[in-house]
Amino acid sequence: MPEASSPSGARDCRSRTATLRLIPATPAPVHFSAVLPSAVPRLVAPAIPAARRCPIATVARSVSTTTAQALQFAEAYVAEDLVLRTARSLATEVGLAAVTPGTGATLRLLAAAGSARAVVEIGTGTGVSGLWLLRGMRADGILTTIDVETEHQRIARRIFQEAGFASGRTRIITGRALDVLPRLADGVYDLIFVDSAVAEYSACVEAATRLLRPGGVLALHGALAAGRIGDPAARDVETVTVREVAKAIRESEDWIPALLPTGEGLLAAVKR
Ligand SMILES: C[S@@+](CC[C@H](N)C(=O)[O-])C[C@H]1O[C@@H](n2cnc3c(N)ncnc32)[C@H](O)[C@@H]1O
Repeated sequence: MPEASSPSGARDCRSRTATLRLIPATPAPVHFSAVLPSAVPRLVAPAIPAARRCPIATVARSVSTTTAQALQFAEAYVAEDLVLRTARSLATEVGLAAVTPGTGATLRLLAAAGSARAVVEIGTGTGVSGLWLLRGMRADGILTTIDVETEHQRIARRIFQEAGFASGRTRIITGRALDVLPRLADGVYDLIFVDSAVAEYSACVEAATRLLRPGGVLALHGALAAGRIGDPAARDVETVTVREVAKAIRESEDWIPALLPTGEGLLAAVKR
């Protein structure tokens, strides 16, 4: 079945360029005498030398020229081994876009930071993200991974085996996410990763609210909507859906979110 999130079934993984316009601080001198009693000597705040200006402003000035290179560096920072590279090339063969290495490393980090023992993945694919997750989870952890395509899961099963994970470490469930999620237990999962049909993201977030324990983490893939998320002129269904889901999470009392600009974008949120 083709991915509902993208007509081609593959995400656009080209590097993005960000246009960040921050105006460097050049403050006018402040005369404190305006607010202090007259007995206090007049003080004039010195102009801040360029070298001591806010580092963010300094970085922002060079961001347009270095962003693509820096993003490439970040993506390659944690290298993939042969098994992951194999899973990735099999994903390409079957027409799927797996998570990027930077996103995989972030998933592994989230799993490790939360000592995750029970993880749900929606969208197994050929096992790239699943393998990253398994490598961050506790040694006794179980990855429940859901996909509607048996062929993708057949490949993923082999990949997990090749990487040395016993079959008991994974629970591979074939089916549509919205049919499977209601069968999972409430409040026991440490991390839920969603990488399937964008049209179902809202329902997946709702399910995650029920399935995660307090302090558990939700991670939604594709949160930059192929780079269109910040473009007000982009009104296609997928972008609008991602925007709405991101807004709902940000405004909900249930979550503590951050939008991580790794790969295709990872919206991570901790359940209160
Ligand atoms: C982008 S791929 C997942 C890639 C995988 N997470 C990785 O990085 O290796 C999306 C997967 O979601 C599956 N999928 C699409 N719609 C689905 C649905 N409604 N329920 C479950 N799986 C679905 C597709 O079959 C596909 O394998």
